[in-house]
Amino acid sequence: MSGEVSSVKVAVIGAGSIGMAFAIVFASAGHRVTIYDTDPERLGMARDELASALSDLARHDLLQENASAVLTRIAVTGDLAEAVQGALWIQECAPEKLDLKRALIADLDSLAQPDAVIASSASAIPSSQSTGHLPGSRRCLVCHPANPPFLLRVIEIVPHAGTDPAVSAFAREFLSACGMQPVMVGKEIEGFVFNRLQGALLREAYCLVRDDVASVEDIDTLVRDGLGLRWSFMGPFETVDLNTRGGLAAHAEKIGPAYRRMGLERGQDDPWTDALVDKATAQRRSLLPLEGWDERRAWRDRRLMALIRHRRNQEVAP
Ligand SMILES: NC(=O)c1ccc[n+]([C@@H]2O[C@H](COP(=O)([O-])OP(=O)(O)OC[C@H]3O[C@@H](n4cnc5c(N)ncnc54)[C@H](O)[C@@H]3O)[C@@H](O)[C@H]2O)c1
Repeated sequence: MSGEVSSVKVAVIGAGSIGMAFAIVFASAGHRVTIYDTDPERLGMARDELASALSDLARHDLLQENASAVLTRIAVTGDLAEAVQGALWIQECAPEKLDLKRALIADLDSLAQPDAVIASSASAIPSSQSTGHLPGSRRCLVCHPANPPFLLRVIEIVPHAGTDPAVSAFAREFLSACGMQPVMVGKEIEGFVFNRLQGALLREAYCLVRDDVASVEDIDTLVRDGLGLRWSFMGPFETVDLNTRGGLAAHAEKIGPAYRRMGLERGQDDPWTDALVDKATAQRRSLLPLEGWDERRAWRDRRLMALIRHRRNQEVAP
């Protein structure tokens, strides 16, 4: 590992949906990428799939150079040692199975050059479980993307207790330079943050379908045309902060008890205590002092107007 991130070799291990999409992220950032997979059929399809995704990106004006220039930086191989040789960044994108990841990352650790970082794309398996036993565990961590990472640019960086802090710092710098938006996760926790948030919504959605309160289609409508419209440019905290005059604290005072009752109905009791609301409010107020609240609310409405116009235009587009 070094501070030099201008153009390096990257190994992408696994040519499924995440591996292929990561290859685009790294190659379009100027890095040389070698993709490895155990399945020769996947490798055989890789170049055509990449060419198609890259030309779609170019058509939407989302590539800084032409698609074929990016493609020339991507190689495929069925030889793990060849993939890893000379790589400074290794992105493991194999199936979400603990035993498979443990064995695969052990191979990567023995083959990779000493300063290479080994990042696992795991959705739920923390790196303490997949890599804690390895001699090189200090250079291992999880870098969990959203799907596909070349479009949804957030990525969770989740070190384990033994990850070298310099490796986490490098991961943040390297991924930022690749156009990603890293979020540092403070503690190893199953599902990390992205899937915990998604899981909270899905758990409730399944309960509502089970109890015949709403259909799958109705729930998708409420999220697509309601909650999701706002969430496409604001998070849930900013959303409720702007929903109630007085911000988050006023919102929690008014609605907190009702949300607590809803949680209790599902067997979950995590009240928004005064101390917790104070903590969240302090963080929101440092981002948006209450004096800026009215202006931000008007901004929210203008963003919604622009989004609604965009969606209307998409609907009439061929
Ligand atoms: N799909 C998602 O939405 C998503 C999002 C974020 C993270 N992830 C995580 O990314 C990882 C990959 O997920 P995916 O959806 O791309 O899976 P996938 O099933 O589409 O692809 C996995 C690929 O790994 C290959 N493979 C199997 N064994 C291998 C081995 N030993 N070495 C190298 N390659 C091997 C398979 O042939 C396949 O091409 C998983 O850990 C998953 O949880 C997935």
